[in-house]
Amino acid sequence: MSSPLKIAIAGLGTVGAEVVRILARDAAMLTARAGRPLVVTDVSARDRGRDRGVDLSAYTWHDDAAAMASTAAADIVVELVGGADGPAHAIVRNGLAGGKDIVTANKAMVAKHGVELAAQAERAGRVIAYEAAVAGGIPIVKALREGLAGNHVSGIYGILNGTCNFILTTMRETGRGFADVLKEAQDLGYAEADPAFDIDGNDAGQKLAIMASIAFGIPVDEQAVHLEGITSVSADDIAFAEELGYRIKLLGIARRTEAGIEQRVHPVMIDRTSPLGQIEGVTNAVEVAGSAVGTVVLTGPGAGAGATASAVIADLVDIAAGRRTPTFGIPHTMLKREPAASMNELVSAYYIRLMVWDRPGVIAGVTGVLGRHNVSLESMLQRGRDPGEVVPVVMVTHECQEAAMRAALAEIEKLDSVVEPPTLIRIEGL
Ligand SMILES: NC(=O)c1ccc[n+]([C@@H]2O[C@H](COP(=O)([O-])OP(=O)(O)OC[C@H]3O[C@@H](n4cnc5c(N)ncnc54)[C@H](OP(=O)(O)O)[C@@H]3O)[C@@H](O)[C@H]2O)c1
Repeated sequence: MSSPLKIAIAGLGTVGAEVVRILARDAAMLTARAGRPLVVTDVSARDRGRDRGVDLSAYTWHDDAAAMASTAAADIVVELVGGADGPAHAIVRNGLAGGKDIVTANKAMVAKHGVELAAQAERAGRVIAYEAAVAGGIPIVKALREGLAGNHVSGIYGILNGTCNFILTTMRETGRGFADVLKEAQDLGYAEADPAFDIDGNDAGQKLAIMASIAFGIPVDEQAVHLEGITSVSADDIAFAEELGYRIKLLGIARRTEAGIEQRVHPVMIDRTSPLGQIEGVTNAVEVAGSAVGTVVLTGPGAGAGATASAVIADLVDIAAGRRTPTFGIPHTMLKREPAASMNELVSAYYIRLMVWDRPGVIAGVTGVLGRHNVSLESMLQRGRDPGEVVPVVMVTHECQEAAMRAALAEIEKLDSVVEPPTLIRIEGL
């Protein structure tokens, strides 16, 4: 049996404490799989006195996690503190400088500093593993980096934020509005007190940027992701989607197109019988289209102590067993910038909802504007009639360019009969 892999863990919160628990509980199984024992030697968090439900007495405690990363006599530093900058970044940089491999669950840091850290790791002959940073317990990083290495990836489509999927699912099941369901998600602990990072699409955007880097061999760049959140999705839109055979999901989409690489996060309507259309509640899922394999869908829990620790431990076993992969699948010097496709060039079908005065000639006015912009309609839905009142009119277009759709909507919004800004949701043919 080879020498033990000595592990220093920074951060003993939800994920860190669970990692410690599983390493102790399943030591024999993990030793067999890694070919050597995985042994925690050093730990650090903010508050030494806090009861974490795990026995830490056998480990050397450090008040300063960044100093521990430099000086501990460990082979590997596990960073489970969180945050793109500050202590987490210092822990990883110090760990690499101190000759240690790194395992982290920190999507914010990998999305922001991934290229710089990959370069530092490669110079030091070390690896950075971050399976837990993308879609929690779903082994999508490994799938993209290794399992699908024989494919040109043309597209990735992911339900990457459990909070948003829970909110959209509950809105559909109950008919309730966004604000009301967000409150419930907060009460249940699915949404943070400040939910902006989730519901505005930032969290999904960071995960998408990381996957796009691996899939397309481009430098990770979270700024390249077009973000739209779910705050404007209404109960009406969800009900109309159902009537049209769709489900509304917050999707992260990265595609290689003739116009360049698309990276976008926004609500979409997808066929409700499609694999992603059926993903409900806090569950995550990622669909990958590859040149050789066709389509692969992975689904599972995207967060939570057990799911996230599962991914952290898989990385530890890989490193212990000597399975070492460059951060983004290829050496960082081979990552190549590619043109980004602008949203104006996107070609999509659209769901449009207008709130209009129910009076003669209104529809003709709207379809006239669409026609002038070469936007053709596939179907239209008008629920009931209420002469003299405001009623919703829903239109589904054939595929057209986003720029044309936007120009048409800007004109439609100015029509006398249209009482509020139109709602637009892209329809994805998955
Ligand atoms: N929770 C999930 O479901 C999940 C899922 C996927 C990825 N992640 C990622 O996993 C990482 C950890 O998340 P978490 O949910 O476990 O967070 P958490 O429960 O808030 O735990 C953070 C830990 O870091 C410690 N800490 C904070 N500042 C520190 C510092 N300056 N020096 C040393 N330790 C410090 C805290 O110490 P005290 O305990 O003493 O306060 C705590 O133990 C994050 O990057 C997160 O994005 C989490």
